[in-house]
Amino acid sequence: MNLTSLSNKELAEIISTDKYDEELIRSADAIRREHYGTDVYIRGLIEFTNICKNDCLYCGIRCGNGNAERYRLSREDILSCCENGYELGFRTFVLQGGEDPYYTDEIICPLVSEIKSRFPDCAITLSIGEKERESYAAYKEAGADRYLLRHETANSEHYSRLHPDNMSGEHRKQCLFTLKELGYQVGSGFMVGSPYQTAENLVEDLRFLQTLEPDMIGIGPFIPHKDTPFGDSPGGTLELTLRMVAILRHLFPKALIPSTTALGTIHPLGREMGLKAGANVVMPNLSPVKVRKLYTLYDNKICTGEEAAECRGCLERRVESAGYKIVVSRGDVKR
Ligand code: SAM
Ligand code: FES
Repeated sequence: MNLTSLSNKELAEIISTDKYDEELIRSADAIRREHYGTDVYIRGLIEFTNICKNDCLYCGIRCGNGNAERYRLSREDILSCCENGYELGFRTFVLQGGEDPYYTDEIICPLVSEIKSRFPDCAITLSIGEKERESYAAYKEAGADRYLLRHETANSEHYSRLHPDNMSGEHRKQCLFTLKELGYQVGSGFMVGSPYQTAENLVEDLRFLQTLEPDMIGIGPFIPHKDTPFGDSPGGTLELTLRMVAILRHLFPKALIPSTTALGTIHPLGREMGLKAGANVVMPNLSPVKVRKLYTLYDNKICTGEEAAECRGCLERRVESAGYKIVVSRGDVKR
């Protein structure tokens, strides 16, 4: 099965039908094994603030959600998450949060430098949204290696139905190209089954990613959050998400593709199935248990009650049961 030469129309047909699923997933797994064997890379996710100035219509921590209980982790909290994570074998830390104006460059840069000096053999990933070029450059200078910024949807009309008027998909895409220019390893991606999304939109997402050539591509099902305008919208399905993971592996043979927490939320074995469909990364949570339930992007999020060590052990077993193996490594992309 070779998807690389398909037209947009043919790709949209594959996206819309379950007819080829078995073959698609089997061949995606063969491609991942060719490049990564059975290795699964882990990233320790530190969700350090749920305060956000944005009002994305789908997101549970949008500023318009007055029911969300807000928190910020202190510098010491974040460093102790890294300490704990290092002992558990993590060699990548992902600092993710809402676009929280409190964390100015003057706070982020020294924090990144401190983590880098304490854990020089680790990669630092930031995922803190859209910033000015100067800020991205300063974070890089301070020691950040990677940046995650999902483009969400490549279609501008679709983007405008998911976001308020003051946000622009074009600006978000521009940020991604800036990050690449600055030498970051870049991760992008989108939600599967977001409101109003069509198969043609998904093809546009794939084409945009082919232009961007990111190192990592994160996708997960859209899951409604009750306190958002899309609280009653249907969520993305397991089948379509797995099909999209497999298609991504075909089109981006060497990419880092996480099997996401959202996938594990919509099905008890979602992450295992994601790995079998071509994913090669998992991102367990290192945040302190006291704040886990508060970083609620969507309803029923899993792994909000466990300590980091429990999550690590649980995931190890899950990954092995799917036929793969977690490795202790920075987990850089293969080129
Ligand atoms: N503020 C940063 C940013 O904008 O990239 C990082 C945090 S943001 C909450 C991380 C990702 O969560 C988004 O890129 C989006 O794709 C995903 N997300 C938000 N709401 C979601 C929902 N209801 N279901 C599934 N994924 C969601
Ligand atoms: Fe967190 Fe399983 S991965 S409890």
